[in-house]
Parts: sequence; structure tokens; C-alpha cells
Amino acid sequence: MEIILQPDATAATFLAARVIAREIRRKPNLVLGLATGRTMEAVYAHLARLHREEGLSFAACRTFNLDEYIGLSPDHPASYRQYMNRHLFSKVNLDPKKTHLPDGAAVDLEAECARYERCIMECGGIDLQLLGIGRAGHIGFNEPMSALRSRTRDKTLTRTTIEQNAAMFGGDANKVPRRAITMGVGTILESKRCLLLATGYEKAGIIAKALEGPITSRVTASALQLHPHCTVIVDNAAAATLEDTDYYRWIFQNEPEWQNF
Ligand code: GLP
Repeated sequence: MEIILQPDATAATFLAARVIAREIRRKPNLVLGLATGRTMEAVYAHLARLHREEGLSFAACRTFNLDEYIGLSPDHPASYRQYMNRHLFSKVNLDPKKTHLPDGAAVDLEAECARYERCIMECGGIDLQLLGIGRAGHIGFNEPMSALRSRTRDKTLTRTTIEQNAAMFGGDANKVPRRAITMGVGTILESKRCLLLATGYEKAGIIAKALEGPITSRVTASALQLHPHCTVIVDNAAAATLEDTDYYRWIFQNEPEWQNF
């Protein structure tokens, strides 16, 4: 795991966008795993700008989102499909047929989860998975106690997550669905590369647990410690309670891979 500290949220989200852009330029038909949440809005804005100003092309990319709320149809304004349309899909040259999210309105959820896993496999697996972290320590919607080998399935959301995401439902926690379909921790760990991004003081406590604490299903982001190629980008606020920041800075300054960034 490499941990990269950036001075603020703008620098952190821009670096994340440039990592994604570099992977797309290296492999134009990249299979890109996408995440939602407020943190990612700036990443998608940077990617849209790189598309407009530098000709970054998504034409051959395939995308898979981590999760979707159960009970929301793809045209519901608070669905993650609509979030993605608003923030990325409508702003770049992605082929809509190559963008995938679980169908939260599926009647047979088990069949939908199996279909999603199959679809990822048929595309050759995810090359780069972008991840945020919830206050409950989740990646995707893998809430505390999710099996670290779990696959795509339906999960009940914690109260913490429901409150955290209420803003997207007009601030009304009662409107937030109680359940979601999410890629499993095991599914995420099979991605060839993971990129975790966190910004702001409200993430500092959970980031310290996930990165420097023990690997535990209570904080599913901690499972990323097992991943052979995981890059974590945090701003100084989200890094506020990490212990080994001097070491992370030293590594970043001395890694040849990062010299061009
Ligand atoms: C939701 C998503 C997560 C994401 C989290 C962070 O819960 N399912 O994948 O990491 O939001 O949200 P934010 O960036 O708004 O803090």
C-alpha cells in the first residue's frame, strides 16, 4: 500500500484524476471501477476537464460502479446511475452501453448480483478500482462485519451511512433506502489496482483505522492492506491522525513512479 499525502482536497482529487488518466492513456480499453459520494464529484470534474482540454478519451473504456441503492430505478434522481450521468457520463465520451451499475430495481436480487459478477469477469476483471471511504469504514457499501471474501450481494446499510448519505435525499434520512447492492470486498480485492481517496477532517479517524489499524471486517477498507497494488491519496486533513506521515512523504518523494506527477 502506498499512501500519498496532498496539501488539500483540490490537490488530492486532481492527483487521483491524473492517476486514472494515466492508466487510460496506457490502456485505452481500461476496465474502470467507479465510486460515488461527494469526494468523487471533484475527481469527475477534473476528468471531464482533461477530456475537454487534453483530449483524454473514454471511448474504449468499460466502467463498473461499486454499488446502487435497492428500490431505486435507474431514472430516480438519487440513484447512483443518475449521479454518474450528472457527474461523469454526460461530460465525457463514454459509450453508455459500456457503463455498468447494479440494477437496484431488479426483482431477483440474487440473480442480479450473480449477473453483475459475471459481467465483470466477461470484461476481463477490473483494471483500476476507484474507492471512497464511508464514515463506517466501508468501501462500496460493505458495512462493518462484511466478510472480507464477500462477492456482489445485497446489504443493509448502517444508521451512520444512512445519515451520511441523507444529503442526497434532500437531507431526509427517512428517504434513504435501507439496503443496497454492492460489490463484495473479495470482488474489490480482485481488481488489478485499487485507488482509495479520502479528504477532510471528518475522515481522519476512520482513515487511521483503515490504514494503520488491524485488518478487520469491522472496517472493511482495512482489507485493502492485503491488496498487492493499492494507492491511497489523502489530503492533510484526512491524514491528521495518521502516525507515520513523515515516512509516507519520504516514500512518495523517492519513488521514481511519482517523479512525473
Ligand atoms: C457512499 C458510497 C461509498 C463512498 C461513500 C463516501 O456511501 N457507497 O462508495 O465511499 O459514499 O461518501 P463521501 O465521499 O460523500 O464521503
